[in-house]
Amino acid sequence: MDSKKKGFATRSVHSGTQHIGDAVNTPIFQSSTYKLTDERYAGWAAGAQHTLLYGRLSTVNSDAVAQKLVAMEGGEDAETFASGMAAIATTLMALMNQGDHIVASNDIYGGTYGLLTEELPRFGIEVTMADMRDPSSYEAAIQPNTKILYIETLTNPVLKVCDIPAMVAIAKKHGLITIIDHTFASPWACQPLALGVDLVIHSTTKYLGGHSDLIGGAVIGSKEHIANIFHRKIHFGGCPDPHSSYLLERGMRTLDVRMPRICSNAATIAERLEAHPKVERVYHTSLASHPDHEIAQRLLPKGTGMIAFVVKGGDEAALSFMRSLNIVYEATSLGGVESLIECPFNSSHGAVPEDVRMAAGIVPGFVRLSIGIEDVEDLWNDMEQALA
Ligand SMILES: Cc1ncc(COP(=O)(O)O)c(C=O)c1O
Repeated sequence: MDSKKKGFATRSVHSGTQHIGDAVNTPIFQSSTYKLTDERYAGWAAGAQHTLLYGRLSTVNSDAVAQKLVAMEGGEDAETFASGMAAIATTLMALMNQGDHIVASNDIYGGTYGLLTEELPRFGIEVTMADMRDPSSYEAAIQPNTKILYIETLTNPVLKVCDIPAMVAIAKKHGLITIIDHTFASPWACQPLALGVDLVIHSTTKYLGGHSDLIGGAVIGSKEHIANIFHRKIHFGGCPDPHSSYLLERGMRTLDVRMPRICSNAATIAERLEAHPKVERVYHTSLASHPDHEIAQRLLPKGTGMIAFVVKGGDEAALSFMRSLNIVYEATSLGGVESLIECPFNSSHGAVPEDVRMAAGIVPGFVRLSIGIEDVEDLWNDMEQALA
């Protein structure tokens, strides 16, 4: 289909779908290798990207996802991976060489923090941490060998909002590549490539998959960048399998109907939590009290499904609250149709040193909540009885 002329929901449903055997959806095409024809040999000679040769390179189902991602995020091409971390690691290893420097932020996702602080320095890559909320701190960290500014749309878990256009302006001024982890927002909320970002990364495990039943990752950008990243994907091997790609494509088709419910539920719960006497502080971009409320209204006016809050009484009170919930499930992920809750100190951010966690605002009693599509009154009743 000519995806550019259609709306977001139509593109989400139809773009990329492979109608094999006249099926209305892309069937699971569970093959690891394909017959070598003249056409495939030609594709191989041209670099092998998006050529059905061998399952580590691409599959029918992963190609369907890649095409749908381009239709939803913009850009020219996409590659998909076995996990969000495989997408991030492969992208950074494709773009950086020994002696290069990257600027990122202390409060990025814990796994990315580990990659930047434990792995990249082993290969002679320098990393400087700055504050994503303050683009001038990124500019101040730029060195002659800087290659990449690495940002997240919303930080995890305090939901700082990155001023993407300001970051892009700094990157362009210094001739740098901007990479954004857009997992927490999804292409439904905004499309960073249209704002000038070079590469958009997703843990597709989250909102894009949307049902807590797969692990996956993706990167979207220019043909040139994606061809380079594809070449490294062959070497590092972090390819997705056909079944998880099938589940991902199915999830992506309903993103546009899941997100409005998730975001309106989240705004209601955030407002009620803020008024609750047992809650010290609430972070949600819909609240006027959120330090980045104004930027969020400009960049992410449709909202977000992520909430963070601090329960009075410290970590013990937070754990006891979580374990009294009946509907909201204690688990370390986000973006599914079901609401999930965790304390970052013993899960997603457990590997982040305590002083770094404190500086990022992850104080005792801190809870992260990913809101699902349940009835909002059921969610609130569950939270209220657990707080009580
Ligand atoms: C913002 C963000 N980026 C990347 C990742 C890593 O994704 P995956 O678990 O699919 O490897 C996560 C996982 O929670 C995440 O929250």
